[in-house]
Amino acid sequence: MKKIMLAAGLILSTSLFAQVSKPIELPYVDYPMVKGDYDEVAQQYCLICHSWGYVLNQGKKSRPFWTGTVKKMVDEFKAPIGKEDQQIIINYLVKHYGYESTAQH
Ligand code: HEC
Repeated sequence: MKKIMLAAGLILSTSLFAQVSKPIELPYVDYPMVKGDYDEVAQQYCLICHSWGYVLNQGKKSRPFWTGTVKKMVDEFKAPIGKEDQQIIINYLVKHYGYESTAQH
């Protein structure tokens, strides 16, 4: 019985393998950044360690949220972003990927 199972598994895996004889390509999900409002500053710094899709995964967020996130990137992960550029990025994020609010989310 074990032998039959093994043979069946082998046939199954070889036929599966045949279907993906080419290297598997993951779909490339493009998250274009909204242009304007110094998007190049956000591009310069926020794509060093992760993709823009990772940033946008958060959904629309408030100003305190984005402020906290940018600070976290700088303080905890040592993102080399000057104070002025941090503010530019926060404004960009709030305008295009958030909303003005004092709520923490
Ligand atoms: C020095 C590397 C680095 C840079 C530069 C950087 N990040 Fe991150 N970021 C990280 C790491 C590491 C994580 C994962 C943290 C975790 O899993 O807890 C992360 C996670 C995030 C997350 C997911 C939520 C969270 O808080 O973990 C957001 C949103 C984010 N980054 C936004 C930004 C933005 C906006 C910028 C540009 C200002 C930026 N990052 C620049 C390293 C970086």
